[in-house]
Amino acid sequence: MDGNGRWAAARGLPRVEGHRRGVEALRRTVRAAGDLGIGFLTIFSFSSENWSRPPGEIRDLMGLLRRFIRNDLADLHKSNVRVRVIGERDNLARDIALLLQEAEELTRDNDGLTLVVAFNYGSRQEIAQAARRLAIEVAEGRLSADEITPDLLAGRLHAPDIPDPDVIIRTSGEQRLSNFLLWQAAYSELVFVPINWPDFDRAMLEGAIAEYHRRERRFGGLAAQTGS
Ligand code: FPP
Repeated sequence: MDGNGRWAAARGLPRVEGHRRGVEALRRTVRAAGDLGIGFLTIFSFSSENWSRPPGEIRDLMGLLRRFIRNDLADLHKSNVRVRVIGERDNLARDIALLLQEAEELTRDNDGLTLVVAFNYGSRQEIAQAARRLAIEVAEGRLSADEITPDLLAGRLHAPDIPDPDVIIRTSGEQRLSNFLLWQAAYSELVFVPINWPDFDRAMLEGAIAEYHRRERRFGGLAAQTGS
């Protein structure tokens, strides 16, 4: 969800206004994803590196997350959305950790769109944590080092049951992953959209999905043969 700050700056508005409009774009996108029958939508809403922002902006972002869960959780639940959260919970304010837990527990049995909120998330941290877990299992003699496979490590990531993303969309024109789902993105199609997140809408989501369908995914194999 990149470009909130630039959206605001271009209009002479404070950055927080860009983030507020970013939450509106998020609501639109969740609705559109549900309507389109998308199974999983992961949003990068606060990265491990975002703590380096000025304290006032961090407060604004935490406030927007609180308000989003308080205002929108009932609607998400009614729309059969299941909320999952990935990222570190340990250094979050207690009320935020509890809100995230409440969102997950309330929507646990929903079987529509799964909305994965990446909050206080960093992919390298997630991979390092999985490696630490494997190391502990080896040290305790529950696993031998030569049994470690990619699948075994993937099973120790934050949400191992959630499939790898087919497509990753980044707005604002930046063309990088910035510590987002690095392991899971091994074969994802990357779509870079040159508009700021607050302007993202259903048509742009559909456009990104159409672009995804035009790509040929080979997963390291050969192009599919046509005819015999
Ligand atoms: C990127 O724009 C956006 C963010 C770092 C924060 C996104 C978070 C929210 C919209 C609110 C909180 C979360 C939820 C789930 C409601 P940027 O600030 O990096 O923009 P810039 O690159 O143009 O400065």
